[in-house]
Amino acid sequence: MEFSVRSGRADKQRGACVVVAVFKSRKFSASADALNRASRGAIATVVRRGDMSGDVGRTLLLHDVEGISADRVLLVGFGKQNKVGETHFRRAVAAAALKLREIAVTNAALFVCDVEVQGRDLAWKAKHAVESIEEALYRFDQLKSKKKDKTGLRQLRLFVPESDQLASAQTGARQGEAVAEGVYFARDLGNLPGNVCTPTYLAVQAKKLQRTHKIKTTVLDEVKMKALGMQALLCVARGSREPPRLIVMEYRGARSDASPVVLVGKGLTFDAGGISLKPAAKMDEMKFDMCGAASVFGTMKAAATLRLPLNLIGIVPSSENLPDGAANKPGDVVTSMSGQTIEILNTDAEGRLILCDALTYAARYKPSVVIDIATLTGACVVALGAHPSGLFSNDDALAENLLEAGETCRDRAWRLPLWEDYQEQLDSNFADVANVGGRDAGAITAACFLARFTEKFRWAHLDIAGTAWKGGKDKGATGRPVPLLTQFLIDRCANA
Ligand code: BES
Ligand code: MN
Ligand code: ZN
Repeated sequence: MEFSVRSGRADKQRGACVVVAVFKSRKFSASADALNRASRGAIATVVRRGDMSGDVGRTLLLHDVEGISADRVLLVGFGKQNKVGETHFRRAVAAAALKLREIAVTNAALFVCDVEVQGRDLAWKAKHAVESIEEALYRFDQLKSKKKDKTGLRQLRLFVPESDQLASAQTGARQGEAVAEGVYFARDLGNLPGNVCTPTYLAVQAKKLQRTHKIKTTVLDEVKMKALGMQALLCVARGSREPPRLIVMEYRGARSDASPVVLVGKGLTFDAGGISLKPAAKMDEMKFDMCGAASVFGTMKAAATLRLPLNLIGIVPSSENLPDGAANKPGDVVTSMSGQTIEILNTDAEGRLILCDALTYAARYKPSVVIDIATLTGACVVALGAHPSGLFSNDDALAENLLEAGETCRDRAWRLPLWEDYQEQLDSNFADVANVGGRDAGAITAACFLARFTEKFRWAHLDIAGTAWKGGKDKGATGRPVPLLTQFLIDRCANA
């Protein structure tokens, strides 16, 4: 989609469609009011007849309205006028976008930034208008033999009330576009099946970022990983015919001596559980077990597009986890890159095995903070459901910053404890640590496992098992937490 930010009057805009906000109890936004006056009350008449309730997301399309330059007027309901919250705003704008696509216009003028959103400014509205439109219009039909037609909505003009507001709305819209681009990238990678999106495929995508986005990419193969002593990562891959990869992406937007933010993403391109095989039901969804990796790709892309003034490293350990004669067996003991030995009591707890070596590797970048993102535990879904990602951190300020960024961009996280008390659940009779901690507090003990490999730096862990994709009839990757991570980076630059 091509977005532009403009100022001007709603009744004077030519083009296929002008979109304005209406509220419950027949209240109009300033732009709807302007259209109503220009049309000598025609819009108020329609609303008075009861055709448009103003409920959030309701739409009503009008043709050839007297006194209005555009061919059509689309009324969009935003709910109660003085009670438009963040989700209402996003839902209403998304509904408008879907309606515009349905009626197959190529362009439209959107007058939605004149809606008051509680506690949010114009830049926020512009950013979220763009993000929610792109989110709603996303389609994944790469693998269908017949594509839905690609003609249709191409150009959206986002209007602000006053010309002196153009700059801040433009900043918001530009950030929204970058986030949306990152989200699309992450969703596409997530939705691709395991037979296409392999560790090698992910490495090729990372190399492409090098050409398009000035990101330096290095890919480590098995030989290099072996030389580094990454036995925890390598042992997971032993059960698969697809070779594992450690993908490292570097974006340099600040002075070379500025210590970077490091993102580490779990890249299991398929997780069958290994010898501790998963049940068959919904096992297809384990193609999404690389969504942490996908969010790192998406965030790298967004940060580079925005030319954020910071240094950012993305590290993606990538493998499959399958049953095989060479696969890990319950009871096997391996030595991680850190030197700590690990007893593998359950081969399905493989994410922490590939992550621990990647986290140890991250230390060489002398990071200011390290954030790992992983579809790590079913237990996190049990605890928090599909709304927030689980957040764990050894640093309160970092945790606060992530929580705050999540609130700002509506891609929220919720913090869970990382107390020492839980560590004993990981005791092993045969190695330094076990890879599982029993049934209780599974999301926490998984984080506690990772904590043993991150003591040397400020670190946070996002468990996105509940948020990275949806099941059921809307099955598909969400692109989360690209919005959260990008917002975190934007805020970090603003406060630097
Ligand atoms: N990728 C899964 C976690 C997962 C499961 C995410 C279901 C979303 C839905 C992970 O590798 C895994 O299998 N975790 C195990 C850990 C257990 C063996 C301690 C789990 O959650 O069951
Ligand atoms: Mn698993
Ligand atoms: Zn997994």
